[in-house]
Amino acid sequence: MVEGPVRIEMPDGSVVESDRFMVAICACRRSKTYPLCDTSHRRRSGQRTPQ
Ligand code: FES
Repeated sequence: MVEGPVRIEMPDGSVVESDRFMVAICACRRSKTYPLCDTSHRRRSGQRTPQ
């Protein structure tokens, strides 16, 4: 989580801006709104938890 507003420049040169007061940055790259976190990281896609 980072404090907003934020302006993120992507490697391809595009810019993503958010004026929210707290912004979650996606570190897992599964987000449909990457680089902003949309909580997709919570989904367990094909991963098994060891028991
Ligand atoms: S960190 Fe990637 S969707 Fe949340």
